[in-house]
Amino acid sequence: MYNLGLPIPKFVRSTHPVPSLHLKPLTVAALPDIVELDRLCFGQLWTEDGYRRELDSPNSDVLGVFSSEAEPFFLLGFGCLWAILDEAHLTVLAVRPEYRRQGLGGLLLQTLLRSSRDRGLERATLEVSATNRAARSLYEQFGFREAGRRRAYYPNGDDALILWLSGIQKNDFLQNLDDRDRQIRARLSTLGWQI
Ligand SMILES: CC(C)(COP(=O)(O)OP(=O)(O)OC[C@H]1O[C@@H](n2cnc3c(N)ncnc32)[C@H](O)[C@@H]1OP(=O)(O)O)[C@@H](O)C(=O)NCCC(=O)NCCS
Repeated sequence: MYNLGLPIPKFVRSTHPVPSLHLKPLTVAALPDIVELDRLCFGQLWTEDGYRRELDSPNSDVLGVFSSEAEPFFLLGFGCLWAILDEAHLTVLAVRPEYRRQGLGGLLLQTLLRSSRDRGLERATLEVSATNRAARSLYEQFGFREAGRRRAYYPNGDDALILWLSGIQKNDFLQNLDDRDRQIRARLSTLGWQI
């Protein structure tokens, strides 16, 4: 097992024998956890009201991955997309630091991309800091390619890269997603998660 069994502050440890993962659309009930994870991963990307608007919008998907390691299930990561015309704009992707590098970011991303396909969207885009190696590597694995750069875009002076992924409606895209899904689930299972 990887990070399972870590101390989980503010939660009561669950009696579930094998920790399980649950992927589901987030609701307002998860707002405090979303905001806490946003603060932890980004400082403060969006306010609580910003997330509330996302949760209310029919053009947004806000997806979370929860663990049964504690009661109530607690939020390990989440991701958001906006559907704009025929484009998916991936706005947020975050995984709790102690649970990274297990496949959860990939699980969230592939589920958001699957939803983009189900919505009939043709392509996906996002913005990432040029220095964010973890996120860039993850997006590259899914076929995102650099299409532009905004110099010194972030307050710390880092450049922003604009990435695009096309062909979401193509059959081979779905095939790739299915392959990746199998790999991610196998990895999570090896690490001790039931999914
Ligand atoms: C980016 C982020 C969501 C990835 O989450 P994760 O759960 O660790 O991602 P995964 O375990 O699915 O990793 C998939 C791939 O991403 C890449 N990756 C992830 N972490 C990495 C790291 N620290 N260094 C290099 N590559 C990394 C690897 O290619 C990895 O595949 P591998 O483990 O088979 O080598 C997570 O690091 C995070 O929350 N970062 C802070 C918030 C953020 O920057 N979000 C993106 C904003 S654009």
